[in-house]
Amino acid sequence: MSARIPLPPFPRGWFQVASSDELSAGGPLPLRCFGRDLVLFRTQDGEARVLDAHCPHMGAHLGIGGRVEQDGIRCPFHGWVISGNGRCVRIPYADTIPPKAAIRSWDVRELDGMILVHHTSGDEPPSFEIPALPEARSPAWSPGMNRRWRIRTHVQEALENIVDPAHFVTVHGMSERPRTELEIEGHVIRSRSAVKQKGPGGRVVDGTITWEGHGMGYGTIRFTGIAELLFVNTVTPVDDELIDVRFAFWHPSDGPRRLGEALAAEVSRQLEEDIPIWENKIYRPQPVLCPGEKGIMTFRKWSSQFR
Ligand code: FES
Ligand SMILES: [Fe+2]
Repeated sequence: MSARIPLPPFPRGWFQVASSDELSAGGPLPLRCFGRDLVLFRTQDGEARVLDAHCPHMGAHLGIGGRVEQDGIRCPFHGWVISGNGRCVRIPYADTIPPKAAIRSWDVRELDGMILVHHTSGDEPPSFEIPALPEARSPAWSPGMNRRWRIRTHVQEALENIVDPAHFVTVHGMSERPRTELEIEGHVIRSRSAVKQKGPGGRVVDGTITWEGHGMGYGTIRFTGIAELLFVNTVTPVDDELIDVRFAFWHPSDGPRRLGEALAAEVSRQLEEDIPIWENKIYRPQPVLCPGEKGIMTFRKWSSQFR
């Protein structure tokens, strides 16, 4: 918990730690997330696995110089092999394996080109799953660019931004505040906003932005209006001070690709407009709000279930 943002830094839920592309060679990849060092690798059966990074023997980092071996990872220091479930399965110079030779194995899911890890401070199993994205499997949609930023803020601030109507005018130059309806269903939050978008030639077009968040780490955002666009927005705590924000875009395959790409670039540009605010603001637990800003408190009530 930092003085600037007095919230537990690492909520419970699913968080993206890499894209499938980054793991195409099988790894291992060192990860820094949830204030911990982790290691990501793909077993020879193709399963993505995440373990605590430091070997149970004498603490070498398995992601720096380790090698994938069948179902596990071979430590670069003395060659112990740690399997994907975190247990040591081979020691090159000993026949018996000490029972305590184990490290934490994290719950991992790989879907739609993303690798997600379930964060919990205890050892309870995930209480929800991330649904697959129908568009990512449909020939009617094609993948576009992927973007990533490392930002000095908290996942709470990055998400709260979506339900903060007034800043779209002042920070992002929208002609009027979006009208947003919020709906909550357990771990899922949905918002639907009617917006005015600036189209080609300065023409103002009516559009919608629909956000569906599954826990704090994963959300989809769909745009209609000037162009149809879908993107997955993931936010992942790195440590007490930093988060990673990733966008993965999809466009309709038969749509005007240039417009879709321009909208994706515009969404990315808008995120960059938020960064100086997020990196320097404090979190107000009891903000002074106006009547049109109730969504912020609805969002806060929803998000508190993940602490
Ligand atoms: S520290 Fe990993 S095998 Fe010794
Ligand atoms: Fe914003």
